[in-house]
Amino acid sequence: MKIPVHTASHSYEVIIGNRILKDAFSSLKKHIEEADRIIVFTDENVWQAQHAYFQEQFPEPFEVFVMPAGETCKSFDNYFAAQTFLLEKKSTRKTLLIALGGGAVGDLTGFAAATYMRGIPYIQVPTTILAHDSAVGGKTAINHPQGKNMVGAFYQPQAVVYDTEFLSSLSEKEMRSGMAEVIKHALISNEKWLMELLDLSSITKLSDHQLASHLKSGIEVKAKIVTEDETEQSVRKYLNFGHTYGHAIEAAAGYGGLAHGEAVMIGMVYALLLSERYSQINREFTKSFLQFAIEKGYPFEGVFNYSFDQLKDYMLKDKKAEYGVLNFVLLSKIGEPFVRSIELSECKEIDLELRELLQEVGK
Ligand SMILES: NC(=O)c1ccc[n+]([C@@H]2O[C@H](COP(=O)([O-])OP(=O)(O)OC[C@H]3O[C@@H](n4cnc5c(N)ncnc54)[C@H](O)[C@@H]3O)[C@@H](O)[C@H]2O)c1
Ligand SMILES: [Zn+2]
Repeated sequence: MKIPVHTASHSYEVIIGNRILKDAFSSLKKHIEEADRIIVFTDENVWQAQHAYFQEQFPEPFEVFVMPAGETCKSFDNYFAAQTFLLEKKSTRKTLLIALGGGAVGDLTGFAAATYMRGIPYIQVPTTILAHDSAVGGKTAINHPQGKNMVGAFYQPQAVVYDTEFLSSLSEKEMRSGMAEVIKHALISNEKWLMELLDLSSITKLSDHQLASHLKSGIEVKAKIVTEDETEQSVRKYLNFGHTYGHAIEAAAGYGGLAHGEAVMIGMVYALLLSERYSQINREFTKSFLQFAIEKGYPFEGVFNYSFDQLKDYMLKDKKAEYGVLNFVLLSKIGEPFVRSIELSECKEIDLELRELLQEVGK
């Protein structure tokens, strides 16, 4: 199955399906033939779990650069090591990079590709559920000790090859994390689809068919938004639903403490509470959404480890913050996002409401 992505700078396809790696790469022959060498960037967990399948399905000769797993691969040190590897392998402007991994590998590889000799081609091969989001749309970045994703570029891949076979070795925590972004895509686009997700008895044990269908819907939402707005001047901001407070919790927990999607789930409940003040979203919905998230194992107890003052400092570093005013994505109703600036004092009130609500539902 193919989903087209048309951005202002470049058009490409997301090819999605189970055990499709080989066929997908034969349909991308042109890119392979144009490349003078192929270098696969991956991380140690992915390579350990999936190298046999990848090698069996990917017949071309390639070199592999195996990086530390998770956010560590988005450090300046690893970025430097990646560039060194490319230079040592005598990579040129015609070298093709393949990002085999989750969002972390994808972000690092995309940024390495954007900057090596001012830009070389790359293909995303996502291996996590979350990466249905991160692999599409061309946002690439590494982390600075002072903030996540602070150094990066908009740089689109040549293609995205999403073989759901890779998801078989994912841990439950990572499944849950990724499903939060799927749920985010539903919240900002489609009430009927959201209700289907909220009705699932498990979000970590979906059939191949169910999973593929929800991932396809998620990619379509993302593709439509980045087609309209590649560089986040307008509607692309909606994809940040749940991310302002979520990123703050994620940063406070120390990268790796909470999975990205776990933190985003907390941030989405926060954004729903805030939405209640300006829209048709009501407490009944927020509460039932929170109950769903708790039941599915999202770890909300993390909130109590940090004070609002600690989280505030992280929120103010958000790329969407301007002069101490935070720009939040809210929902006027399910499927209809909008952006509103919110004073810090109000953020504090909502933080308190969140803590009270968590206590009320027994967290
Ligand atoms: N560029 C974007 O638009 C965008 C959007 C959302 C998130 N992100 C970024 O994505 C990152 C999070 O992505 P993620 O959740 O995929 O995390 P990740 O890449 O860190 O992967 C999570 C963990 O799962 C392991 N893993 C990955 N695939 C596996 C597999 N198939 N089998 C076994 N283990 C596997 C990894 O080694 C890692 O330990 C963050 O850095 C976030 O900033 C980027
Ligand atoms: Zn995210």
